[in-house]
Amino acid sequence: MEGLSRRRGVLLPAAPAGEAQTLVRYHDAGALLEADLLADGKTGGFLDQQENHALALGYAQGVAEGGGRTGLDAFTYHGGFALALARGGLETMACDESAAAIGRARRNAELNGLAVDFQVRNAFDLLRALEASGRRFDMVVIDPPALAKRGQAGASAVAAAVRAYKELNLRGLRLLSPGGVLITCSCSARVGGAEFGAMLEAAAHDAGAPVQVLERRGAGRDHPVLLGVPETEYLKCWVLRRAL
Ligand SMILES: C[S@@+](CC[C@H](N)C(=O)[O-])C[C@H]1O[C@@H](n2cnc3c(N)ncnc32)[C@H](O)[C@@H]1O
Repeated sequence: MEGLSRRRGVLLPAAPAGEAQTLVRYHDAGALLEADLLADGKTGGFLDQQENHALALGYAQGVAEGGGRTGLDAFTYHGGFALALARGGLETMACDESAAAIGRARRNAELNGLAVDFQVRNAFDLLRALEASGRRFDMVVIDPPALAKRGQAGASAVAAAVRAYKELNLRGLRLLSPGGVLITCSCSARVGGAEFGAMLEAAAHDAGAPVQVLERRGAGRDHPVLLGVPETEYLKCWVLRRAL
């Protein structure tokens, strides 16, 4: 959109094509993750979610201490939330539609000595199938890609995105056992906090369940919001509890 040419490569220090070392390891909320800085999504990892992965670990530990057993991470990418749920003691299932991302997530689980049931699946289909099969989870994480993107035409694109968020969250709430915790995110700057909250209220209403808001968070402190630039407050990460 800004007229920049697309290029993918190592600029500094300059390295001949194919020779640059772009596979890196880094720590995320105490887990060791591997990413290819050139080949993988985003900048390699969703670093804006690191503090929320740590938060998920704490909730998973609490849920497990309270007798909860199972967790689900619906858009897992390299497993950031799924590994946190597993480290917290929950038997965890996770999906992503990208086979490359799931390959990396499996490797990351291995690196951390964790067992997670990673599946290459469309999350909408998986949530629907799990609900139909009567499965329930004690903790669910929903962190889809930006469903309302910059550059898409106007209010109708935002309304369509809100409908998709509602479907995901309604299914997420229905899959929760009573007392279960839902961590739900949106990285669409065009869906503001108030709209996100209203969408969740509608989903809770349709799920027929009393739902409490435990925390409203955003990106980590290394992604500060710049006053006057609302786009920098793009990430919502809310923690809800299905009370009954
Ligand atoms: C925002 S990223 C998830 C980041 C991840 N939760 C984390 O904390 O690192 C969204 C992910 O959703 C995946 N994705 C997009 N559409 C999907 C779909 N319909 N079903 C499953 N995964 C999807 C993308 O491949 C991407 O990995």
